[in-house]
Amino acid sequence: MYNFEYKNPVKIIFGKDTISKVANEVPKNAKVLLTYGGGSIKRTGVYEQVKTALKNIDLIEFGGIEVNPHYETCMKAAEIVKAENIDFLLSVGGGSVLDATKFIAAAALYENGDPWDILSKPETAEIENAIAIGAVLTLPATGSEMNGNSVITKFETLEKFAFSSPKVMPQFSILDPECVFTLPDKQVANGVVDAFIHVIEQYLTFEVNSPIQDRFAESILTTLIEEGPKVLADRNDYEPAANFMWSATMALNGLIGSGVPQDWATHQIGHELTALHGIDHARTLAIILPGLMHIKRTNKNDKLLQFGERIWGITQGNDDDKIDAAIVKTVKFFETLGVPTTLHEYGVPEETIGVITARFEKRGAKLGEKADIDFKEVGEILRARL
Ligand code: NZQ
Ligand code: ZN
Repeated sequence: MYNFEYKNPVKIIFGKDTISKVANEVPKNAKVLLTYGGGSIKRTGVYEQVKTALKNIDLIEFGGIEVNPHYETCMKAAEIVKAENIDFLLSVGGGSVLDATKFIAAAALYENGDPWDILSKPETAEIENAIAIGAVLTLPATGSEMNGNSVITKFETLEKFAFSSPKVMPQFSILDPECVFTLPDKQVANGVVDAFIHVIEQYLTFEVNSPIQDRFAESILTTLIEEGPKVLADRNDYEPAANFMWSATMALNGLIGSGVPQDWATHQIGHELTALHGIDHARTLAIILPGLMHIKRTNKNDKLLQFGERIWGITQGNDDDKIDAAIVKTVKFFETLGVPTTLHEYGVPEETIGVITARFEKRGAKLGEKADIDFKEVGEILRARL
């Protein structure tokens, strides 16, 4: 196992009827900006619950944050934060609202030039300060509620980049699984697939003798495989909703990724499909992952076999047969959830492959746990998914 340092200061408040507890967590004298998305919180009643709990708090609102949030929208909010002397940001919504809120928190206090550098040059653009954040999470998927990651799209150039900083980790996140009850099928399926592939990015690499991380990872995968279909079948069944929600948080709160190699190529390639074609984040991952498993089967040989055996019970055949069977099982799982896994099913033309590989070539990107996936291999992965 590799050396590691792990600190996760996010207070999780989990369970039924917990949204009113936001009143105990938001600092009493703070001037708060409540951030939200396209209005689902008003339809579901979450907005009413938050407003009632915070009736004595000095609060203004910033709504209209898009799915795959735009840099341009975040910058408008950052200006409001500065003009209104906001000292606490409360995100009420899914991963998009929370990611946007994290970027707003950092951009409002960024003094080293253009805040876009936070996303386009994350290795040099240091975040020294950020406004404090709290979250009421309404959609299990991203793990954003318990990490310091944020993914933002620049609408002007159709670029989607991520940054990560401990300064933007929420001080608290409230997770009420009853929020799952109002999710459409598509968002449940997206959430299951996104969480599943977050685990894969930190697990399906190469062996470093990390049985704790491996078995934690496998327990999350198995739970998603068991509980995901139950949530889809009955949206008002609390227990599967709760297990789904906690799986998504545990998939990307840093725990299973500590001390082990990590991949993230599926995500980086997937972001290009969202940026260029607007395909939902999780759906881009379901397209890319089977291609990556296929093309990187030598690098990932031992872990692919372990994944096949422990998750899908595959024990027959030679190594290649077993890996092929593991890929087929994984694809079937996504498809059973209603998530298509090929480019043509989303109407993505072959020319897009050239556009994406040119972008990776220009960036000189080397992706994957061995930093050996160059733009040509990105092309092979995409061509395997036509
Ligand atoms: O915008 P509103 O009206 O709120 O509606 C949303 C949106 O249309 C709706 N929704 C949310 N909660 C609901 C609900 N509808 C009914 N009932 C509820 N309880 O669902 C739609 C999707 O919401 P969104 O926040 O976009 O989904 P998700 O949580 O999947 O977030 C996706 C974003 O997170 C990024 C993705 O790239 C994408 O931009 N990611 C963030 C990560 C992180 N911070 O660690 C990691 C991930 O890999 C991912 O990249
Ligand atoms: Zn993801």
